[in-house]
Amino acid sequence: IPVDPFDLVIFGGSGDLARRKILPALFRRFRAGQMPRGARIVGAGRRDLGRDGYRAVVVEALRDHAGEAAQDKAALGEFLDAVDYATLDAAGTRGWDGLAARLGPDRVRAFYFSVGPDLFGPLAERIRRHDLAGPETRVVVEKPFGRDLATARALNATLAAYFEEGQIYRIDHYLGKETVQNLMAVRFGNMLFEPLWNSQYVDHIQITVAETVGVGGRGEYYDHAGAMRDMMQNHLMQLLCLIAMEPPAKFDPDAVRDEKLKVIRALDPVLPHHIVRGQYDAATGAPGYREEAGDPRSTTESYVALRAHVSNWRWAGTPFYLRTGKRLVARSSVINVMFKDAPHSIFGAEAGRHANVLSIRLQPNEGITLKVTIKEPGPGGMRLVDVPLDMSFAEALGPDSHEATDAYERLIMDVIRGNQTLFMRDDEVEAAWAWTDPVIAGWQGRGDVPKPYESFSTGPGDAELLMKRDGRRWQGIKP
Ligand code: BG6
Repeated sequence: IPVDPFDLVIFGGSGDLARRKILPALFRRFRAGQMPRGARIVGAGRRDLGRDGYRAVVVEALRDHAGEAAQDKAALGEFLDAVDYATLDAAGTRGWDGLAARLGPDRVRAFYFSVGPDLFGPLAERIRRHDLAGPETRVVVEKPFGRDLATARALNATLAAYFEEGQIYRIDHYLGKETVQNLMAVRFGNMLFEPLWNSQYVDHIQITVAETVGVGGRGEYYDHAGAMRDMMQNHLMQLLCLIAMEPPAKFDPDAVRDEKLKVIRALDPVLPHHIVRGQYDAATGAPGYREEAGDPRSTTESYVALRAHVSNWRWAGTPFYLRTGKRLVARSSVINVMFKDAPHSIFGAEAGRHANVLSIRLQPNEGITLKVTIKEPGPGGMRLVDVPLDMSFAEALGPDSHEATDAYERLIMDVIRGNQTLFMRDDEVEAAWAWTDPVIAGWQGRGDVPKPYESFSTGPGDAELLMKRDGRRWQGIKP
C-alpha cells in the first residue's frame, strides 16, 4: 500500500542501530517503491556531520548492511537525495530550530528515538517545546524499555506527558518477523487448528530462541541485563502471547493487544525450581561470557529456560517451556506445539508412542511443519512412522516470495501508516515486567549463580532435567 510523503527523523542517526537496521530497512523499502518522492529522512545527532557527512555515513551503512541492494547505484543516488542531517543537542537547546526548518508541513512526522532511554524525556520535551509535533506525529522507541517495572512505568509516564498512547510505537522487532505474523494467520485463518488449540489436546508448548553469537562487544549493556531482561521479558513473551491468546474480534491494534495483555496477566509466578540459568564457558577461539562481559565474577545469565503457566480455561494444565541463550549449537528460533498422544493405541505397544507436533520456524528457513503419524510403507505389517507435512515458505511460494523482508522494514512502514498492531502498548510492557521482576529479585535474594555451559552446546544440563522431571524432552536445536 503506497504511503504519502513523510518525514522521518532519526535521533542517534549515525548510531549502531541506525546503521545496522533502520537505514538499510528504509533503503530496501525505497527500492521496493514504497517510499514516495518527497519523503525525507533526517539524521540527527550531536556530531557536526553536515548533510554530506551524513550521506557518507549512510553510504557506508548500506554498503555494510544492505547486502546486494547497495550495489544499485541509481537507487542509492536517489535515496541519498532524500537524506538530510541536523546537528543538535538532544538534551540542550542547540540545533532544534535547524531541525524544525528541515521538516515539511502537513505530513506524517515520525521521530525515531534510537538513543538510550535517558534521552527519551529530554527529546520528547524538546519536540513539544519547539512545536514540532502535530496530530500526525509519532515517536518510535526501542528496547530496553526499562529494566524493571518501576523504570518502565517511569518511562511510560515521561512519554505520556508529551504524547498520546496512540502516537507511541514501542518496538519489539520479533513482532515484525514474517513467521510471527504468520502465526496469527495460521491460527485465525484456518478452521483446522483452533479447535485443538487448548489443554485438552496440547500436551505442552516449547518456545526456543537459540543464538550462536556471544555477547561480543555488547558486554557492558548485556551484563546489566542478562537473558531474562534482554530476551525473555520481551521477545519470548511476545511469542508466548501470540500462541496463547484468544482470537481477537478484529485484527486491529487494541483488539490484538487486549488479548495479549490478558495472557501476560494470566501467567502464574515462575517457581524457583522451574527455572534454569546458564552462562557460557570459553571455547577454542571464543572467549567465555565473563571475559566478554569484562567481569570475571559476573553472575549474569546468558541462557535461561523456564516453565510457565497460563492460568485460564484454555491453558490450565498445559505448561509452556521457554528457553533462550547465546553461544548455542545453532541459530534457531522455533515454536513447537506438542500435541497429546492418541488416547488409545489400537496398534499395540510395539507401534510406539506417537504424537503430532506443529513446528513453527521463525528463523532461519521460515516455515511450518506438522509431524503426522502414518504407516511405514511396505509389507512389514502395521509399523508406524512420523513424517513431516512440510511447508517451507521459500519452497511453497517461491524463493522471492518473502525476499527476507527484515522486521524493521515492516515495522517502520507500519509507523508511517499509523498501525500500532505490532507494537507494544504501555500496559503490556508493564505487565511483562511485573511477571519478570520477582524472578530476578528471587535470584538476587538467593545469590543465585548461573550454571556454566559449554559454548556451542544446547545449554546447561539442568535445562534437560527441567523437562525430564516432567517426563518430557526438548526438541533438538537444529539450524
Ligand atoms: C535483541 C537482543 O533484542 O535481539 C539481542 O538485544 C539478540 O541480544 C537479538 O541477539 C536477536 O535478534 P534476532 O532478530 O537476530 O533473532
